[in-house]
Amino acid sequence: MKILVIHGPNLNLLGTREPDVYGSATLDDINQKILELSRELGMEAETFQSNSEGSIVDAIQKKTYDMLIINPAAYTHTSVAIRDAISAVGRPAIEVHISNIHKREDFRRTSYIAGVATGQISGLGVEGYLLAVRAGKKILNG
Ligand code: DQA
Repeated sequence: MKILVIHGPNLNLLGTREPDVYGSATLDDINQKILELSRELGMEAETFQSNSEGSIVDAIQKKTYDMLIINPAAYTHTSVAIRDAISAVGRPAIEVHISNIHKREDFRRTSYIAGVATGQISGLGVEGYLLAVRAGKKILNG
């Protein structure tokens, strides 16, 4: 069972980017925790970050995974292309946001991804990714 974890634009800056909103963990810290927990649960995980919408679509289309965990970052609120890619591959996808997108600016309340995701986790910080890994195991085990 393999999980692909995709991090969208500007998440490479975690640790120094608006720490009051996104916390102090770096992307490496987060990826390490995801990889550790996946291993513990007997799953394989791969992590991928890109600032480019097309590269994210390409990664989704490759279907080298059984399920997706994706923080599309700003593309959450704009990307029909990422939504369509998730819909096209027909694999379960969990949408994760570090901050609570529903209690910030109005434009962040709209997610183009939520309608094709199995579920959304928002506002639980780094823990959100780990909850998604646990949920992923249950989803894949049926
Ligand atoms: C984010 C929320 C988005 O609105 C924002 O554009 C991000 C990060 C989050 O994880 O809280 O870059 O996806």
